[in-house]
Amino acid sequence: MHVGPRLSLGPKLRSSGRHKMVEINRAKIEAVSKREAHEFSKTHPRSRRMFERAGKSMIGGVPMNWMVEWPGPFPIFAKKAKGSKITDVDGHTYVDFCLGDTGAMFGHCPEATARAVTAQVRRGITTMLPTEDTIWVGEELAHRFGLPYWQAAMTATDANRFSLRIAREATGRRKVLVFNGCYHGTVDEALVRLVNGKVTPREGAMPPPVDPEITTKIVEFNDLTALEEALTTGDVAAVLMEPAMTNCGIILPAEGYLDGVREATQRTGTIWIIDETHTWCAGPGGYTRAYGLKPDMITLGKPIAGGIPAAAFGLSQELYEKTIGNMLAETTGVNGLGGTLTGNALALAAMRATLEKVITTKAYNHMIPLAKKFNESVQRTIREHDLPWHSVQLGTRIEYRFRPTPPRNGAEAIAAKDPLLNKYMHLYDLNRGILLTPFHNMALMSPYSTRKDVDLHTNIFRDSIQEILG
Ligand SMILES: Cc1ncc(COP(=O)(O)O)c(C=O)c1O
Repeated sequence: MHVGPRLSLGPKLRSSGRHKMVEINRAKIEAVSKREAHEFSKTHPRSRRMFERAGKSMIGGVPMNWMVEWPGPFPIFAKKAKGSKITDVDGHTYVDFCLGDTGAMFGHCPEATARAVTAQVRRGITTMLPTEDTIWVGEELAHRFGLPYWQAAMTATDANRFSLRIAREATGRRKVLVFNGCYHGTVDEALVRLVNGKVTPREGAMPPPVDPEITTKIVEFNDLTALEEALTTGDVAAVLMEPAMTNCGIILPAEGYLDGVREATQRTGTIWIIDETHTWCAGPGGYTRAYGLKPDMITLGKPIAGGIPAAAFGLSQELYEKTIGNMLAETTGVNGLGGTLTGNALALAAMRATLEKVITTKAYNHMIPLAKKFNESVQRTIREHDLPWHSVQLGTRIEYRFRPTPPRNGAEAIAAKDPLLNKYMHLYDLNRGILLTPFHNMALMSPYSTRKDVDLHTNIFRDSIQEILG
């Protein structure tokens, strides 16, 4: 396996560059991190006070526990977010490349979404009745993604859970297959890892309701033989996957791999669900349309309503015919596919405005070239310093990693993690006005991001490296 054990083992990293030997000094990472944490505390007194007070009533001092993962001794408290910028309560303004971890991929408060939401709030937020926007949204999703039938959900997690239920209903099978290194939300079947050839609960996950061996099969991405073997037993209802993995860094599919997945799922009567929540970064119709894929189901979430909680899943004609009976039976209220607030009027108005005016080809025409520029600048900086790192672009998304070549699967990606270095780089950015997603070295471009934003990152990235060399 081509993982760089050098990257995570010794106190120093050595590149294999021919011309010069570059070393990252881990003692320096620790020392500079300390200095940066001190600086952060000094320059964010209001955030610190709010965090301390919030901690007396909110778990961890935050409304949702992931927010403690930001680098530094406490998270910044946001005051305002607009376009590609966030201003915090201490008056600092940041170039935001995290963009709400994709929820705000098309910018904070896009004008069209803000207008539609403001108007709908005054016309009714939630009524348990459809509004006219339903028609526009359904037709648009069918047109964009190539699947004829859709339903709203509240989050991408929801959309994935509902899709798995439909797949079970259609096939009469129970198991689900996912890929090592995946993340599909808090879907119990998918909070797993492949360890010593066995499916096990993901490290850090609270205990699942049943042993994942009962619910889940897991294989490595880009290993078609392993997938085919896992499906031949005929007990897998669905393969749930991102067409390019994004949750342990970006892992692109090998040439022909996704054709193989389609063929293997079709041959074994397994439903192929593509989770486009993150890979929507590839184009207006997601990776599916950009690369001509033909899945049985698609799930969407995060940016679909410009940050208002909303999601959706779509299904093929064949799957619709197989499952419509139970979906719309008299017992529909308890079939496990919805929720009281799901499909509310506000969410539909936000989805319509966002799909119509925000998630547009024009937006991608700005975002993708900018992502290319970001990626090339990071790659150039890595080369200049002869570091054994790399960076990958997927549409509007870029991720750099501390190993020399792109990983082919989750195991390789996970082995290259370097939490100390990761935190250091994020904190260094934060102190200089840049937000990167805490769990990744990932940057997202929005329609509001600029060349100047990218150049700012490039300069800070270079400085952060130079501080820890030798
Ligand atoms: C690919 C993918 N699917 C689903 C989800 C779940 O999204 P949510 O937390 O909005 O339910 C995530 C979250 O990161 C994701 O990355």
